[in-house]
Amino acid sequence: MDENQNPKEVPRRKCIGPSSVSAYRDPKYWDERFSKEEHYEWLKDYSQFRHLVQPHLNPTSSVLELGCGNSQLSEELYKDGITKLTCIDLSAVAVENKQKQLLSKGFKEIKVLEADMLDLPFSDESFDVVIEKGTMEVLFVDSGDPWNPRPATVTKVMKMLEGVHRVLKPDGIFISISFGQPHFRRSFFNAPEFTWSLEWKTFGDGFHYFVYVLKKGKRTLVNQETSEKIVPPAIYLFQDELETEDYIFRTNVEELNS
Ligand SMILES: C[S@@+](CC[C@H](N)C(=O)[O-])C[C@H]1O[C@@H](n2cnc3c(N)ncnc32)[C@H](O)[C@@H]1O
Repeated sequence: MDENQNPKEVPRRKCIGPSSVSAYRDPKYWDERFSKEEHYEWLKDYSQFRHLVQPHLNPTSSVLELGCGNSQLSEELYKDGITKLTCIDLSAVAVENKQKQLLSKGFKEIKVLEADMLDLPFSDESFDVVIEKGTMEVLFVDSGDPWNPRPATVTKVMKMLEGVHRVLKPDGIFISISFGQPHFRRSFFNAPEFTWSLEWKTFGDGFHYFVYVLKKGKRTLVNQETSEKIVPPAIYLFQDELETEDYIFRTNVEELNS
């Protein structure tokens, strides 16, 4: 240990993000990153939001995870009894690594496929649950004004949501675990073509993360407007959040602060 280093100090993780946030939408960036990085958990790990997700799952649920990266979400779900799991990612390297990792750990039933969440290669109504953590965020990284995102962002987000809605069974559930605040997500989730209801809960200390739960076929006029009062949160980031790369969303946050 460096003699000047305080022994109680936990060494800070170096940020390994790209120089431009738009790289987060580029599979080449992810391929290169995943060829060096074994595990990185975006936002928070399963233990932090398990209580909000578990009530919507049961051992017979077929679950699709979007943009699994090198997260351990699928294996944590498996350990919790959810065994019909399919993970997809746009990065071929992420997929290959994840397949190897899961096999070596004995999770042979979890399927991992290279696929684009904007063009899901699954038939209509094939999953009980679609889940994503931090993956939808990549569509927002260069969205411009978060109150009025660029048309290209809107098109991509809607394409993703249309695909999710399509592959969900008639009473299926989409769970989105996100940094994105409700006032920036609601107009997408509540688009008229979707039949799902929308509710959300928060988790995390200090800085809140969101678990959005969208239940297909359950939309009513009442739940188009959530009963939860929307109070725009104070926008700030703790140093810890910056250190763990959630600063990916800094463009939106900075624009709000300006
Ligand atoms: C911010 S990381 C989140 C990873 C993981 N879900 C987690 O919680 O740690 C975004 C992931 O989405 C993947 N990704 C980006 N665009 C995608 C797309 N269009 N379709 C599928 N996966 C995509 C990336 O390769 C990366 O693994």
